[in-house]
Amino acid sequence: MKIGVLCSGGDAPGMNPCIRAIVRAAEKFEGYSVVGIRHGYQGLLDREFWGGTDRKIESREVSGLMNRGGSFINSSRCSRMRDPEGLQEAANILRELRFDALITIGGNGTLSGARDLGQYWDGQIIGIPGTIDNDINGSDFTIGFPTAVQTGVEAIDKLRDTAGSHDMMFLVEVMGRHCGDLATYTAIAGGCEVVAIPETMTSIQQIVNQLTYCKNLGKRSIIMVVAEGDEFGNSAEIMKALKEAGCPFEMRNVVLGHVQRGGSPVPADRILATRLGVCAVDAIKDGKTGVMVGMVNGQITYTSLEEAVVGRRGKAEDMEKLIKRMSI
Ligand code: F6P
Repeated sequence: MKIGVLCSGGDAPGMNPCIRAIVRAAEKFEGYSVVGIRHGYQGLLDREFWGGTDRKIESREVSGLMNRGGSFINSSRCSRMRDPEGLQEAANILRELRFDALITIGGNGTLSGARDLGQYWDGQIIGIPGTIDNDINGSDFTIGFPTAVQTGVEAIDKLRDTAGSHDMMFLVEVMGRHCGDLATYTAIAGGCEVVAIPETMTSIQQIVNQLTYCKNLGKRSIIMVVAEGDEFGNSAEIMKALKEAGCPFEMRNVVLGHVQRGGSPVPADRILATRLGVCAVDAIKDGKTGVMVGMVNGQITYTSLEEAVVGRRGKAEDMEKLIKRMSI
């Protein structure tokens, strides 16, 4: 059994432990070969393999990866996987090099690519949710999300110090694409007063009213987390609108950006990555294909790639209410 593994889209902390788990589960216990495809689908089209050729990764070669952020086989975005020609070419290469199965680690675009590739290639395809966005249907958490929250909270803890010294408000913009989970989880753990997320309408007047109330209660510093996908706009635009509407605090905005994609994975990510990596190999052994392995309520689940990419409806509204209740 020859299994290809690739990471595609934005990288996420935990991808390395996941590849380590795949290699060790496949090679030590099943006698399968795992080949690392570098730079995601683009690397497959360019026949770019880890170690130079499509040779297997040895178990010993994945030592020391547990605490390393990023992806040692690299990642990239690949628009050609949206074209029938690109998909056909990828399938031809997999066939020519006699791959039996492919494991793809990534977010929405990666899993959509895997779903579409299944129409051109009859090998087994298994997806693993790896993205800081936590926006995949069929898994409570995606690999990378817990570390990204940790990174956001560490930044907020520091900003709170200076906000407190200067009686100020910070608007902290986090990633997450169209999903507000990264913002709400970061805001709750960071003790933040306000959040703006794509799942709910952002009302500038309501926020100013809330902040005025907080100020009258004696609050002297405020942290607002803004999800990059908020429908009102980014943190700079929201800050401008708040100022015009009479926000009672002096404000600055901070964009965390790609900082959240880096860093050593926290234990929750290492454990999730290890469990899902091993389950992906088990799924191949069981003859499964066209599914994503995930974790729901602590149990391993298999969701069709079709369903996985429809987007996860989380508890964003409830989380937003919780943040507001904790703000007084
Ligand atoms: O999907 C992961 C992610 O980091 C999103 O949160 C963000 O919107 C996007 O990737 C940024 O992508 P890029 O690195 O291509 O700018």
